[in-house]
Amino acid sequence: MADIVKTIEALKKGEFVTPKRLAEVLECQKEQQLEYLFTTADQVRKNHHGKVVKIRAIIEFSNHCRCSCWYCGMYAGQKGLQRYRMKAEELVSACQQVWQAGYQTVVLQSGEDLYYTKEMIGEIVKQVKTTTGLAITLSLGERPFEDYAYWKLQGADRYLIKHETCNEPMYNRYHPHSSFQERIRCQNDLRLLGYELGSGFMVGLPGQTNEMLAEDILFLKRQRVSMAGIGPYICHPNTRLRGSTDGSAELTLKALALARLALPRANLPSTTALNVKGGMRNALHLGANVIMQKATPFQYRNLYDIYPGRESAEISLKTQLNHLKEQLCGMGFTGV
Ligand code: 5AD
Repeated sequence: MADIVKTIEALKKGEFVTPKRLAEVLECQKEQQLEYLFTTADQVRKNHHGKVVKIRAIIEFSNHCRCSCWYCGMYAGQKGLQRYRMKAEELVSACQQVWQAGYQTVVLQSGEDLYYTKEMIGEIVKQVKTTTGLAITLSLGERPFEDYAYWKLQGADRYLIKHETCNEPMYNRYHPHSSFQERIRCQNDLRLLGYELGSGFMVGLPGQTNEMLAEDILFLKRQRVSMAGIGPYICHPNTRLRGSTDGSAELTLKALALARLALPRANLPSTTALNVKGGMRNALHLGANVIMQKATPFQYRNLYDIYPGRESAEISLKTQLNHLKEQLCGMGFTGV
């Protein structure tokens, strides 16, 4: 007990903690100690964020992708998937609907789709910025410095590009089209350009150890991220990793609680992958302060097939947002 409590306290105080000690907390199965971890993380969340849960609308506007990530159902070589691309006007209009429904922030996400040039994305960002009050987060993958710089000038506020795993050999194996070094180059460029940087990682990738996860948590701190999405790996049957075991929701929640202790001010979403596993309610009670909600037009939703289990009911954006706000209110939070 004493060792785990010491680690939790050290992390909370911002002291240096070794990956080995963090891994011990991730391994811990003792209820009392886990209770201590979760209540401490909840307290830290409360101290820095109060009752507020930030709601983000996410529009997945293209499922074309040049990458070949081993775990992702949308990888470039995936033949069985119908591909779609929203037109610029269609995307701008979808953002305006998100704004009218009452959301304050939109996340524009796609596969790595070079059909959208630097100029096209810049124009979309500019139009959304001039016709709505939305904060804009982009999540479009790896691009040159110039593209990131241009989009920032056009009004983009934040950029989400997860490090996925900071174990370099594992990263390079699962992402044969690119490299860990290139991913970090992107993160560093984005931070330098003044974006609020979002990173994050998957929990339970085949071959991943608790010590690697501990490194992932410490890595978020070193990269000085403003947000971090931590979600369970979910096996997709049409990928190279078919037949592998899903990441555990429990382990994901432990990693999330530790991330809250390490990054008291960061925005930590209950990721959509964790919501799929029924973890939203829990996540908000042990460190998470953000909910991502899909706002992709319905005709495209099921085609954005990163991992299984993402189907959603066909209701209006306004109804969807109000339902979530009511649900949060029932849990003692205020959704904004
Ligand atoms: N399981 C869980 N998360 C996945 N992602 C991609 N594929 C999977 C999967 N099979 C996550 C990655 C990526 C985000 C868009 O979705 O973390 O950054």
